[in-house]
Amino acid sequence: MHFKVSPSKVKDAKVAVPGDKSVSHRALMLGSIANGRTDVTDFLDGEDCLQTLAAMRAMGVSIEQPGSTEISIEGVGIHGLRAPETALDLGNSGTAMRLMTGLLAAQRFNTTLVGDRSLSSRPMGRVITPLTRMGAAIDSECDGSPPLQIAGGLQLSGIDYEMPVASAQVKSAVLLAGLYAEGTTSVTEPNVTRDHTERMLRSMGAEVVVDGNRISIKGGQALAGCHVQVPGDLSSASFVVLAALLAKNADILITNVGVNPTRTGVIDILQSMGGDISLENARLLGEEPVADIRVRSSKLIGAVVPPDLVSLAIDEFPVLFVAAAAATGKTVFSGIGELRVKESDRIAAMTDGMRNLGIEVEESRDGAVVQGGRFQGGTADSFGDHRVAMSLAVAGTVADDGVVVRNVDAVDTSFPGFTSSMAAIGAHIRVVEHVTE
Ligand code: S3P
Repeated sequence: MHFKVSPSKVKDAKVAVPGDKSVSHRALMLGSIANGRTDVTDFLDGEDCLQTLAAMRAMGVSIEQPGSTEISIEGVGIHGLRAPETALDLGNSGTAMRLMTGLLAAQRFNTTLVGDRSLSSRPMGRVITPLTRMGAAIDSECDGSPPLQIAGGLQLSGIDYEMPVASAQVKSAVLLAGLYAEGTTSVTEPNVTRDHTERMLRSMGAEVVVDGNRISIKGGQALAGCHVQVPGDLSSASFVVLAALLAKNADILITNVGVNPTRTGVIDILQSMGGDISLENARLLGEEPVADIRVRSSKLIGAVVPPDLVSLAIDEFPVLFVAAAAATGKTVFSGIGELRVKESDRIAAMTDGMRNLGIEVEESRDGAVVQGGRFQGGTADSFGDHRVAMSLAVAGTVADDGVVVRNVDAVDTSFPGFTSSMAAIGAHIRVVEHVTE
């Protein structure tokens, strides 16, 4: 499938976005190993989370889905998971695979984890290394790629681990294994990353100690099922934010969006570029802060993006490339090398996409310099990456001519209903099966 995007008049609107992907994955995994029931509302019914749901069911957890965004998990307790009959297929989801590796390294049974072509080329050594130090036995393809064969029946021991890369997935994998380990497990992160695992563990009654960038958990703690109300996903909201900023004269309110401070780097960066973005009606949904985000069209100016904001905006760089391309002057990104190992090489994909639409970009190993200009229109490829596809679609709404974004099937992994949400604000994005060359 492809997107055909026409220049659009984005208008005043009030919209909501689907539930947060990171929180939905964690609700499924932690709810499954809790005692008692966990009801989840505003669950993200996207393909990534549905793979995690199927995997938990395959390990004997009863999960009902009375409505697409409502699920009810009958937790089996920390030692209640059962051996799945086949390999667990985690599709496109790095979060599912890395968190699940931590959880499964401590079970009594063996498991095999597989993924699609993109996931099969992503680095898993970063979770295998600390888990092996805890006593796990995990076999991978030679360079640490999936499929992963995880041995069961091993008693793990707590470690004190300094993560070489800032990664919430690695931190979470180690903390999940730490729940089962003897003694205390500590992880120190080089930069703060999203802390949804820590918050949800606490909502379920576990003690998690945070001391600066060091997070510790004692093994052997039980979790208690709870109600998880999933906030709207700020990463999905970012596409709407960008479309509103780039429009001529729009005022858009996006309701009920997660604004956990470990995720809001994108707002800080866009504000530093002149974006008129404000948070209204700030409140807490359980342990997670949420707010309504008001965005008014703005003239963006290029900026030097501080590398210490990178881990707080890690998934929003495709959006930020488009913002930079539409800004006046130059924007400098540095310290973004991690983007090369996401669902696609996002530095290469966005550089290619921006150039195809008429923007000058200089790419380096772990950065890029984007020269603001005008999108002329044309064809760009998503490289099978959902966030690249949606970012390019937003660029199309302000291009001089139409934009075709090729290869957009992956959008459903994180933002089912993307084209209808965008239609609600006036963006013309059609899904087509064929495009003429
Ligand atoms: C996620 C962590 C981030 C992010 C991903 C979701 C999570 O990955 O890019 O989309 O839910 O923990 P890294 O931990 O690899 O940075």
